[in-house]
Amino acid sequence: MKAIKVGLLGIGTVGSGTFNVLRRNQEEIRGRAGRGIEIAMVADLDVARAKSIVGDSVEVVDDARKVIANPEIDIVIELIGGYGVAKALVLEAIAAGKHVVTANKALLAVHGTEIFAAAHAKGVIVAFEAAVAGGIPIIKALREGLTANRIEWIAGIINGTTNFILSEMRSKGLDFGVVLKEAQRLGYAEADPTFDIEGVDAAHKATIMSAIAFGIPVQFDKAHVEGITKLQAADIKYAEQLGYRIKLLGITRRRDNGIELRVHPTLIPTNRLIANVEGAMNAVVVQGDAVGTTLYYGKGAGSEPTASAVIADLVDITRLHTADPEHRVPHLAFRPDAMNDTPILAMDEVQTAFYLRLCVADQAGVLSSITTILAENDISIDAVLQRESAEGEKQTDLIILTHDTVEGRMNKALAQMQALTTVLAPIVRIRKEELA
Ligand code: NDP
Ligand code: HSE
Repeated sequence: MKAIKVGLLGIGTVGSGTFNVLRRNQEEIRGRAGRGIEIAMVADLDVARAKSIVGDSVEVVDDARKVIANPEIDIVIELIGGYGVAKALVLEAIAAGKHVVTANKALLAVHGTEIFAAAHAKGVIVAFEAAVAGGIPIIKALREGLTANRIEWIAGIINGTTNFILSEMRSKGLDFGVVLKEAQRLGYAEADPTFDIEGVDAAHKATIMSAIAFGIPVQFDKAHVEGITKLQAADIKYAEQLGYRIKLLGITRRRDNGIELRVHPTLIPTNRLIANVEGAMNAVVVQGDAVGTTLYYGKGAGSEPTASAVIADLVDITRLHTADPEHRVPHLAFRPDAMNDTPILAMDEVQTAFYLRLCVADQAGVLSSITTILAENDISIDAVLQRESAEGEKQTDLIILTHDTVEGRMNKALAQMQALTTVLAPIVRIRKEELA
Protein backbone atom coordinates (compact mmCIF):
# COMPACT_ATOMS: atom_id res chain seq x y z
CA MET A 1 0.00 0.00 0.00
CA LYS A 2 1.15 3.57 -0.74
CA ALA A 3 2.61 5.56 2.18
CA ILE A 4 0.19 7.95 3.88
CA LYS A 5 1.30 11.53 3.15
CA VAL A 6 1.75 13.97 5.97
CA GLY A 7 2.19 17.75 5.93
CA LEU A 8 4.16 19.32 8.80
CA LEU A 9 3.43 22.90 9.91
CA GLY A 10 6.34 24.25 12.00
CA ILE A 11 9.66 22.44 12.17
CA GLY A 12 11.11 23.73 15.43
CA THR A 13 11.96 21.65 18.52
CA VAL A 14 9.13 19.10 18.23
CA GLY A 15 8.79 19.26 14.44
CA SER A 16 12.45 18.41 13.85
CA GLY A 17 12.27 15.56 16.39
CA THR A 18 9.20 14.21 14.61
CA PHE A 19 10.92 14.32 11.22
CA ASN A 20 14.08 12.65 12.53
CA VAL A 21 12.38 9.85 14.51
CA LEU A 22 9.97 9.10 11.68
CA ARG A 23 12.86 8.77 9.26
CA ARG A 24 15.12 6.82 11.65
CA ASN A 25 12.45 4.27 12.67
CA GLN A 26 10.51 4.19 9.40
CA GLU A 27 10.69 0.43 8.89
CA GLU A 28 9.41 -0.44 12.37
CA ILE A 29 6.73 2.24 12.12
CA ARG A 30 5.61 0.89 8.75
CA GLY A 31 5.35 -2.59 10.31
CA ARG A 32 3.15 -1.25 13.09
CA ALA A 33 0.97 1.10 11.06
CA GLY A 34 0.42 -1.27 8.16
CA ARG A 35 1.77 1.25 5.65
CA GLY A 36 4.52 3.85 5.41
CA ILE A 37 4.11 7.33 6.91
CA GLU A 38 5.91 10.00 4.92
CA ILE A 39 6.35 13.69 5.69
CA ALA A 40 5.86 14.93 2.14
CA MET A 41 5.69 18.68 2.70
CA VAL A 42 6.88 21.09 5.40
CA ALA A 43 5.94 24.70 6.11
CA ASP A 44 8.07 26.93 8.29
CA LEU A 45 8.80 30.65 8.37
CA ASP A 46 12.53 29.87 8.19
CA VAL A 47 12.72 27.91 4.93
CA ALA A 48 16.52 27.68 4.90
CA ARG A 49 16.66 26.17 8.39
CA ALA A 50 13.83 23.78 7.54
CA LYS A 51 15.67 22.63 4.42
CA SER A 52 18.81 22.01 6.46
CA ILE A 53 16.77 19.55 8.56
CA VAL A 54 14.76 17.73 5.89
CA GLY A 55 17.15 17.88 2.91
CA ASP A 56 16.16 18.23 -0.73
CA SER A 57 13.74 15.33 -1.04
CA VAL A 58 10.95 17.09 0.90
CA GLU A 59 9.18 20.19 -0.39
CA VAL A 60 9.53 23.14 1.99
CA VAL A 61 7.34 26.25 1.78
CA ASP A 62 6.89 29.34 3.95
CA ASP A 63 3.10 29.38 3.61
CA ALA A 64 1.34 26.72 5.69
CA ARG A 65 -1.84 27.10 3.62
CA LYS A 66 -0.05 25.53 0.64
CA VAL A 67 0.38 22.35 2.69
CA ILE A 68 -3.29 22.28 3.65
CA ALA A 69 -4.31 22.87 0.04
CA ASN A 70 -2.19 19.99 -1.26
CA PRO A 71 -4.66 17.20 -2.20
CA GLU A 72 -1.96 14.54 -1.70
CA ILE A 73 -1.71 15.31 2.03
CA ASP A 74 -3.97 13.16 4.30
CA ILE A 75 -2.73 14.28 7.72
CA VAL A 76 -1.60 17.74 8.86
CA ILE A 77 0.68 18.03 11.92
CA GLU A 78 0.42 21.42 13.63
CA LEU A 79 3.59 22.17 15.62
CA ILE A 80 3.58 25.96 15.48
CA GLY A 81 2.00 26.59 18.87
CA GLY A 82 -0.19 29.35 20.32
CA TYR A 83 -3.83 30.27 19.72
CA GLY A 84 -3.47 32.61 16.75
CA VAL A 85 -2.35 31.29 13.38
CA ALA A 86 -2.37 27.72 14.73
CA LYS A 87 -6.12 27.88 15.39
CA ALA A 88 -6.88 29.20 11.93
CA LEU A 89 -4.68 26.55 10.29
CA VAL A 90 -6.14 23.66 12.30
CA LEU A 91 -9.69 24.72 11.43
CA GLU A 92 -8.73 25.13 7.77
CA ALA A 93 -7.13 21.68 7.70
CA ILE A 94 -10.29 20.17 9.22
CA ALA A 95 -12.46 22.03 6.72
CA ALA A 96 -10.27 20.60 3.94
CA GLY A 97 -11.02 17.08 5.25
CA LYS A 98 -7.54 16.43 6.69
CA HIS A 99 -6.89 14.62 9.94
CA VAL A 100 -4.87 16.76 12.35
CA VAL A 101 -2.16 15.89 14.88
CA THR A 102 -1.17 18.63 17.31
CA ALA A 103 0.93 19.07 20.47
CA ASN A 104 -0.74 22.39 21.13
CA LYS A 105 -2.32 22.16 24.59
CA ALA A 106 -2.96 25.91 24.76
CA LEU A 107 -5.07 25.74 21.62
CA LEU A 108 -7.08 22.69 22.72
CA ALA A 109 -7.63 23.83 26.32
CA VAL A 110 -9.05 27.14 25.14
CA HIS A 111 -10.63 26.35 21.75
CA GLY A 112 -11.02 22.56 21.98
CA THR A 113 -14.83 22.61 22.01
CA GLU A 114 -14.95 24.44 18.67
CA ILE A 115 -12.15 22.35 17.15
CA PHE A 116 -13.54 18.95 18.19
CA ALA A 117 -17.04 19.92 17.01
CA ALA A 118 -15.64 20.93 13.60
CA ALA A 119 -13.67 17.67 13.37
CA HIS A 120 -16.71 15.62 14.39
CA ALA A 121 -18.89 17.32 11.79
CA LYS A 122 -16.29 16.70 9.09
CA GLY A 123 -15.57 13.10 10.16
CA VAL A 124 -11.86 13.69 10.73
CA ILE A 125 -9.62 13.02 13.72
CA VAL A 126 -7.80 15.61 15.83
CA ALA A 127 -5.17 13.69 17.79
CA PHE A 128 -3.23 15.31 20.65
CA GLU A 129 -1.26 12.76 22.67
CA ALA A 130 1.77 15.10 22.78
CA ALA A 131 -0.30 17.94 24.25
CA VAL A 132 -0.27 16.48 27.78
CA ALA A 133 2.89 15.23 29.48
CA GLY A 134 4.93 15.05 26.25
CA GLY A 135 6.13 11.50 25.66
CA ILE A 136 3.94 9.85 28.33
CA PRO A 137 0.91 8.18 26.67
CA ILE A 138 -1.50 9.59 29.24
CA ILE A 139 -4.24 10.51 26.76
CA LYS A 140 -4.34 6.95 25.50
CA ALA A 141 -4.31 5.62 29.06
CA LEU A 142 -7.21 7.84 30.11
CA ARG A 143 -9.26 7.53 26.94
CA GLU A 144 -8.74 3.85 26.22
CA GLY A 145 -6.74 1.90 28.83
CA LEU A 146 -8.81 3.13 31.80
CA THR A 147 -12.12 3.25 29.97
CA ALA A 148 -13.73 0.77 32.39
CA ASN A 149 -13.20 3.08 35.33
CA ARG A 150 -15.05 5.87 37.00
CA ILE A 151 -12.10 8.24 37.37
CA GLU A 152 -11.99 9.78 40.85
CA TRP A 153 -9.04 12.12 40.61
CA ILE A 154 -5.91 12.92 38.63
CA ALA A 155 -2.86 14.70 40.02
CA GLY A 156 0.15 15.38 37.87
CA ILE A 157 3.52 17.02 37.59
CA ILE A 158 2.75 18.13 34.06
CA ASN A 159 5.17 20.97 33.51
CA GLY A 160 8.80 19.95 33.15
CA THR A 161 10.18 23.49 33.34
CA THR A 162 8.75 24.20 36.78
CA ASN A 163 9.64 20.76 38.11
CA PHE A 164 13.19 21.29 36.85
CA ILE A 165 13.31 24.70 38.53
CA LEU A 166 11.93 23.41 41.85
CA SER A 167 14.31 20.42 41.82
CA GLU A 168 17.41 22.51 41.06
CA MET A 169 16.46 25.19 43.59
CA ARG A 170 15.94 22.53 46.28
CA SER A 171 18.96 20.33 45.60
CA LYS A 172 21.56 22.86 44.43
CA GLY A 173 20.32 25.99 46.15
CA LEU A 174 20.36 27.84 42.80
CA ASP A 175 18.42 31.02 42.10
CA PHE A 176 15.11 30.91 40.25
CA GLY A 177 16.37 33.05 37.30
CA VAL A 178 19.51 30.95 36.71
CA VAL A 179 17.55 27.71 36.57
CA LEU A 180 14.85 29.20 34.32
CA LYS A 181 17.51 30.20 31.75
CA GLU A 182 18.89 26.65 31.77
CA ALA A 183 15.38 25.22 31.25
CA GLN A 184 14.97 27.52 28.23
CA ARG A 185 18.37 26.47 26.85
CA LEU A 186 17.35 22.81 27.16
CA GLY A 187 14.16 23.46 25.15
CA TYR A 188 11.70 22.62 27.97
CA ALA A 189 10.28 26.10 28.45
CA GLU A 190 7.55 27.56 26.27
CA ALA A 191 8.44 30.47 23.94
CA ASP A 192 6.89 32.68 26.62
CA PRO A 193 8.13 31.14 29.90
CA THR A 194 5.47 32.95 31.94
CA PHE A 195 3.10 30.21 30.74
CA ASP A 196 5.33 27.68 32.52
CA ILE A 197 6.20 29.52 35.72
CA GLU A 198 2.74 31.00 36.29
CA GLY A 199 1.09 27.58 35.97
CA VAL A 200 -0.79 28.34 32.74
CA ASP A 201 0.81 25.51 30.73
CA ALA A 202 0.01 22.99 33.48
CA ALA A 203 -3.56 24.32 33.65
CA HIS A 204 -3.95 23.81 29.89
CA LYS A 205 -2.94 20.16 30.33
CA ALA A 206 -5.07 19.63 33.46
CA THR A 207 -8.06 21.10 31.59
CA ILE A 208 -7.67 18.55 28.80
CA MET A 209 -7.33 15.63 31.24
CA SER A 210 -10.33 16.85 33.21
CA ALA A 211 -12.52 16.79 30.10
CA ILE A 212 -11.43 13.28 29.17
CA ALA A 213 -11.76 11.93 32.71
CA PHE A 214 -15.17 13.37 33.53
CA GLY A 215 -16.95 13.72 30.19
CA ILE A 216 -17.20 17.51 30.34
CA PRO A 217 -16.19 20.15 27.77
CA VAL A 218 -12.71 21.73 28.04
CA GLN A 219 -13.10 24.76 30.33
CA PHE A 220 -9.73 26.42 30.84
CA ASP A 221 -11.42 29.64 31.93
CA LYS A 222 -12.76 27.86 35.05
CA ALA A 223 -9.37 26.50 36.15
CA HIS A 224 -7.67 27.93 39.25
CA VAL A 225 -4.11 28.79 38.19
CA GLU A 226 -1.20 29.54 40.51
CA GLY A 227 2.47 29.24 39.53
CA ILE A 228 5.76 29.02 41.40
CA THR A 229 7.00 32.59 41.17
CA LYS A 230 5.95 33.48 44.72
CA LEU A 231 7.37 30.31 46.26
CA GLN A 232 10.13 31.00 48.79
CA ALA A 233 13.14 28.85 49.67
CA ALA A 234 12.11 28.95 53.36
CA ASP A 235 8.89 27.09 52.60
CA ILE A 236 10.69 24.40 50.59
CA LYS A 237 12.94 23.91 53.65
CA TYR A 238 10.14 23.84 56.26
CA ALA A 239 8.11 21.45 54.11
CA GLU A 240 11.14 19.14 53.98
CA GLN A 241 11.44 19.22 57.79
CA LEU A 242 7.80 18.14 58.06
CA GLY A 243 8.26 15.27 55.60
CA TYR A 244 6.87 16.95 52.46
CA ARG A 245 8.14 18.10 49.03
CA ILE A 246 6.60 21.03 47.20
CA LYS A 247 5.57 20.32 43.59
CA LEU A 248 3.51 22.27 41.09
CA LEU A 249 0.56 19.92 40.67
CA GLY A 250 -2.30 19.95 38.20
CA ILE A 251 -5.26 18.44 40.03
CA THR A 252 -8.74 17.53 38.87
CA ARG A 253 -11.08 15.70 41.19
CA ARG A 254 -14.70 14.60 41.17
CA ARG A 255 -16.73 15.80 44.17
CA ASP A 256 -20.44 15.34 44.91
CA ASN A 257 -21.21 18.95 43.94
CA GLY A 258 -18.91 19.32 40.92
CA ILE A 259 -15.37 19.00 39.65
CA GLU A 260 -12.23 20.60 41.03
CA LEU A 261 -9.77 21.88 38.43
CA ARG A 262 -6.70 23.57 39.85
CA VAL A 263 -2.97 24.14 39.49
CA HIS A 264 -0.88 25.35 42.40
CA PRO A 265 2.25 24.53 44.41
CA THR A 266 1.33 21.59 46.63
CA LEU A 267 2.92 19.81 49.59
CA ILE A 268 3.09 16.05 48.97
CA PRO A 269 4.40 13.49 51.50
CA THR A 270 8.01 12.67 50.61
CA ASN A 271 7.27 8.95 50.63
CA ARG A 272 4.88 9.20 47.66
CA LEU A 273 6.52 8.16 44.38
CA ILE A 274 5.36 11.35 42.69
CA ALA A 275 7.12 13.47 45.32
CA ASN A 276 10.42 12.01 44.08
CA VAL A 277 9.94 12.93 40.43
CA GLU A 278 12.83 15.30 39.80
CA GLY A 279 14.21 17.46 37.00
CA ALA A 280 12.17 17.97 33.85
CA MET A 281 10.41 14.63 34.27
CA ASN A 282 6.62 14.46 34.37
CA ALA A 283 4.38 12.06 36.28
CA VAL A 284 0.63 11.66 36.45
CA VAL A 285 -1.27 9.74 39.12
CA VAL A 286 -4.76 8.57 38.15
CA GLN A 287 -7.20 7.13 40.68
CA GLY A 288 -9.89 4.94 39.13
CA ASP A 289 -12.60 3.08 41.05
CA ALA A 290 -11.75 -0.31 39.55
CA VAL A 291 -8.01 -0.14 38.95
CA GLY A 292 -7.06 1.88 42.05
CA THR A 293 -4.01 4.12 41.76
CA THR A 294 -1.90 4.11 38.61
CA LEU A 295 1.21 6.20 37.93
CA TYR A 296 2.62 7.29 34.57
CA TYR A 297 6.16 8.66 34.47
CA GLY A 298 8.45 9.92 31.73
CA LYS A 299 9.77 12.87 29.78
CA GLY A 300 7.14 15.55 29.46
CA ALA A 301 9.05 17.73 27.02
CA GLY A 302 11.93 17.84 24.57
CA SER A 303 12.33 17.17 20.89
CA GLU A 304 12.23 13.38 20.53
CA PRO A 305 10.18 12.48 23.64
CA THR A 306 7.41 14.73 22.34
CA ALA A 307 7.92 13.41 18.80
CA SER A 308 7.30 9.93 20.21
CA ALA A 309 3.74 10.98 21.10
CA VAL A 310 3.19 12.86 17.82
CA ILE A 311 4.16 9.76 15.84
CA ALA A 312 1.97 7.50 17.99
CA ASP A 313 -0.93 9.68 16.87
CA LEU A 314 0.18 9.40 13.23
CA VAL A 315 0.19 5.60 13.54
CA ASP A 316 -3.26 5.59 15.18
CA ILE A 317 -4.70 7.76 12.42
CA THR A 318 -3.07 5.64 9.75
CA ARG A 319 -4.68 2.56 11.25
CA LEU A 320 -8.09 4.26 11.60
CA HIS A 321 -7.91 6.27 8.40
CA THR A 322 -10.61 4.33 6.63
CA ALA A 323 -12.73 3.49 9.69
CA ASP A 324 -16.28 4.83 9.92
CA PRO A 325 -16.13 8.14 11.92
CA GLU A 326 -18.95 6.95 14.19
CA HIS A 327 -16.81 4.06 15.36
CA ARG A 328 -13.55 5.83 16.08
CA VAL A 329 -12.35 6.64 19.60
CA PRO A 330 -14.19 9.88 20.58
CA HIS A 331 -11.93 12.96 20.90
CA LEU A 332 -12.66 13.47 24.59
CA ALA A 333 -13.33 9.78 25.36
CA PHE A 334 -17.11 10.28 25.73
CA ARG A 335 -19.31 10.41 22.64
CA PRO A 336 -20.55 14.00 22.07
CA ASP A 337 -24.12 13.07 23.04
CA ALA A 338 -22.89 11.49 26.29
CA MET A 339 -21.02 14.54 27.60
CA ASN A 340 -22.40 16.05 30.82
CA ASP A 341 -22.63 19.49 32.38
CA THR A 342 -21.26 18.78 35.86
CA PRO A 343 -19.93 22.18 36.97
CA ILE A 344 -16.30 23.01 37.65
CA LEU A 345 -16.29 24.14 41.29
CA ALA A 346 -15.33 27.66 42.33
CA MET A 347 -12.05 27.65 44.26
CA ASP A 348 -13.92 28.58 47.48
CA GLU A 349 -15.66 25.19 47.34
CA VAL A 350 -12.51 23.11 46.79
CA GLN A 351 -11.50 20.75 49.62
CA THR A 352 -7.83 20.48 50.49
CA ALA A 353 -5.38 20.63 53.39
CA PHE A 354 -3.03 23.54 54.00
CA TYR A 355 0.51 24.46 55.01
CA LEU A 356 0.60 27.87 56.66
CA ARG A 357 3.69 29.89 57.56
CA LEU A 358 3.07 32.82 59.87
CA CYS A 359 5.74 35.28 60.89
CA VAL A 360 4.59 36.09 64.45
CA ALA A 361 5.69 38.05 67.51
CA ASP A 362 7.42 35.63 69.87
CA GLN A 363 5.23 36.28 72.91
CA ALA A 364 2.73 34.52 75.18
CA GLY A 365 -0.77 33.87 73.80
CA VAL A 366 0.09 34.16 70.10
CA LEU A 367 -0.25 30.46 69.32
CA SER A 368 -3.52 30.24 71.24
CA SER A 369 -5.07 33.23 69.39
CA ILE A 370 -4.22 31.57 66.07
CA THR A 371 -5.46 28.11 66.99
CA THR A 372 -8.66 29.68 68.34
CA ILE A 373 -9.36 31.28 64.97
CA LEU A 374 -8.76 27.97 63.21
CA ALA A 375 -11.03 26.14 65.68
CA GLU A 376 -13.78 28.76 65.31
CA ASN A 377 -13.69 28.18 61.56
CA ASP A 378 -13.90 24.42 62.09
CA ILE A 379 -10.39 23.84 60.71
CA SER A 380 -8.53 20.98 62.31
CA ILE A 381 -4.76 21.16 62.87
CA ASP A 382 -2.54 18.27 61.77
CA ALA A 383 0.90 19.49 62.94
CA VAL A 384 2.61 22.60 64.31
CA LEU A 385 6.27 23.57 64.06
CA GLN A 386 7.83 26.67 65.58
CA ARG A 387 11.30 27.83 64.62
CA GLU A 388 13.50 28.35 67.66
CA SER A 389 14.21 32.09 67.86
CA ALA A 390 17.75 33.37 68.10
CA GLU A 391 18.92 35.12 71.27
CA GLY A 392 17.13 38.50 71.50
CA GLU A 393 14.97 37.88 68.40
CA LYS A 394 11.41 39.15 68.85
CA GLN A 395 9.72 37.21 66.10
CA THR A 396 9.59 33.68 64.81
CA ASP A 397 8.07 31.45 62.12
CA LEU A 398 5.09 29.34 63.02
CA ILE A 399 4.30 26.51 60.61
CA ILE A 400 0.88 24.86 60.74
CA LEU A 401 -0.36 21.89 58.75
CA THR A 402 -4.13 21.45 58.67
CA HIS A 403 -6.37 18.54 57.83
CA ASP A 404 -8.68 18.83 54.80
CA THR A 405 -11.02 21.77 54.87
CA VAL A 406 -12.99 23.88 52.43
CA GLU A 407 -10.96 26.68 50.81
CA GLY A 408 -13.59 29.35 51.53
CA ARG A 409 -13.42 28.57 55.26
CA MET A 410 -9.63 28.85 55.18
CA ASN A 411 -9.83 32.19 53.38
CA LYS A 412 -12.02 33.52 56.19
CA ALA A 413 -9.63 32.23 58.87
CA LEU A 414 -6.62 33.67 57.01
CA ALA A 415 -8.23 37.12 56.93
CA GLN A 416 -8.87 36.94 60.69
CA MET A 417 -5.33 35.74 61.48
CA GLN A 418 -3.79 38.35 59.20
CA ALA A 419 -5.65 41.06 61.14
CA LEU A 420 -3.95 40.09 64.44
CA THR A 421 -1.31 42.65 65.47
CA THR A 422 0.97 39.76 66.43
CA VAL A 423 1.07 38.46 62.83
CA LEU A 424 3.89 40.49 61.36
CA ALA A 425 3.96 39.62 57.63
CA PRO A 426 1.66 38.28 54.92
CA ILE A 427 0.80 34.68 55.76
CA VAL A 428 2.17 32.10 53.32
CA ARG A 429 -0.43 29.51 52.36
CA ILE A 430 0.38 26.41 50.28
CA ARG A 431 -2.12 23.63 49.64
CA LYS A 432 -1.28 20.06 50.73
CA GLU A 433 -2.48 16.77 49.24
CA GLU A 434 -1.84 13.35 50.77
CA LEU A 435 -2.68 11.62 47.42
CA ALA A 436 -3.55 8.50 49.39
P1 NDP B 1 9.21 25.90 18.28
O1 NDP B 1 9.09 27.37 18.53
O2 NDP B 1 10.53 25.26 18.51
O3 NDP B 1 8.76 25.58 16.80
C1 NDP B 1 7.71 26.23 16.15
C2 NDP B 1 8.08 26.37 14.69
O4 NDP B 1 6.96 26.89 13.97
C3 NDP B 1 9.26 27.33 14.45
O5 NDP B 1 10.18 26.74 13.59
C4 NDP B 1 8.57 28.54 13.84
O6 NDP B 1 9.41 29.24 12.94
C5 NDP B 1 7.45 27.88 13.07
N1 NDP B 1 6.36 28.79 12.75
C6 NDP B 1 5.91 29.87 13.42
N2 NDP B 1 4.88 30.44 12.76
C7 NDP B 1 4.70 29.72 11.63
C8 NDP B 1 3.80 29.81 10.53
N3 NDP B 1 2.88 30.76 10.45
N4 NDP B 1 3.91 28.90 9.54
C9 NDP B 1 4.82 27.92 9.59
N5 NDP B 1 5.71 27.78 10.63
C10 NDP B 1 5.64 28.67 11.61
O7 NDP B 1 8.08 25.21 19.17
P2 NDP B 1 8.06 23.73 19.75
O8 NDP B 1 8.48 22.77 18.74
O9 NDP B 1 8.76 23.73 21.08
O10 NDP B 1 6.52 23.57 20.11
C11 NDP B 1 5.57 23.27 19.11
C12 NDP B 1 4.26 22.91 19.81
O11 NDP B 1 4.47 21.77 20.62
C13 NDP B 1 3.71 23.98 20.76
O12 NDP B 1 2.31 23.95 20.71
C14 NDP B 1 4.19 23.52 22.13
O13 NDP B 1 3.39 23.97 23.19
C15 NDP B 1 4.07 22.03 21.96
N6 NDP B 1 4.90 21.22 22.84
C16 NDP B 1 6.24 21.47 22.92
C17 NDP B 1 7.04 20.67 23.70
C18 NDP B 1 8.51 20.89 23.80
O14 NDP B 1 9.17 20.13 24.50
N7 NDP B 1 9.08 21.87 23.14
C19 NDP B 1 6.48 19.54 24.44
C20 NDP B 1 5.06 19.34 24.26
C21 NDP B 1 4.31 20.17 23.49
P3 NDP B 1 10.31 30.45 13.55
O15 NDP B 1 11.19 29.85 14.56
O16 NDP B 1 11.04 30.93 12.34
O17 NDP B 1 9.34 31.43 14.11
N1 HSE C 1 6.99 23.92 28.52
C1 HSE C 1 6.45 22.62 28.69
C2 HSE C 1 7.05 22.00 29.94
C3 HSE C 1 6.75 21.79 27.48
O1 HSE C 1 7.98 22.58 30.51
O2 HSE C 1 6.60 20.96 30.38
C4 HSE C 1 5.97 20.53 27.44
O3 HSE C 1 4.62 20.76 27.30
